[in-house]
Amino acid sequence: MFYDAVANTHGLAIDPFKALVAPRPIGWISTLGKNGVVNLAPYGFFNAVSEDPHFLMFGSGGRKDSQRNAEETGDFVCSLATYELREAMNRTSAPVAPDVDEMQLVGLTPAPSRLVAPPRVKESPVAFECRYWRTIELPGRNGKPGMNAIVLGQVIGIHIADEAIAIARLGYGDYAVGDEVFALARPKSRAL
Ligand SMILES: Cc1cc2nc3c(=O)[nH]c(=O)nc-3n(C[C@H](O)[C@H](O)[C@H](O)COP(=O)(O)O)c2cc1C
Repeated sequence: MFYDAVANTHGLAIDPFKALVAPRPIGWISTLGKNGVVNLAPYGFFNAVSEDPHFLMFGSGGRKDSQRNAEETGDFVCSLATYELREAMNRTSAPVAPDVDEMQLVGLTPAPSRLVAPPRVKESPVAFECRYWRTIELPGRNGKPGMNAIVLGQVIGIHIADEAIAIARLGYGDYAVGDEVFALARPKSRAL
């Protein structure tokens, strides 16, 4: 099938776009509000975008608490969600008031970060401490003002547990764990 992605005439019950770019890792973003309250929320529009230096991004559909806190207080931490943490991860996506500590709300343990102010999720095996760099506002359809933004941060500290398997978002309500690994050698010739 082909459809006009601007008019979004896919004809399906649910827009398939996110399910097509899958699996996507889930960035579990912790920030501190100006009031010092811990905020935690999952972002599937999340990825590493450069290696030297290390930068990562998350995409915000509207100026949510994570974006606003990162911009206002200058840093954020991205912990990765595992299979065991899936329920807690999901619960932190609920819209709650900015004065509610979402880590405490779902029973997670805040572990102090080394280089930035927001805590990481202690139960998570991987966490990236990030210094907020900038936000890129994305335009809306047909040149109209948009509501989406990409929040970029430089990774300045990384925590890794010895055993780490993150979960990834597929599409709709589906998630995956990577349970099969294969190797692929890079081609040596530039002609390839
Ligand atoms: C697995 C998962 C992935 C999500 N990914 C995004 C995303 O990429 N961008 C977004 O704006 N919201 C996303 N959400 C919804 C946010 O987590 C939700 O709006 C949350 O309340 C935002 O919290 P905040 O205002 O504290 O930042 C996702 C939710 C789930 C469960």
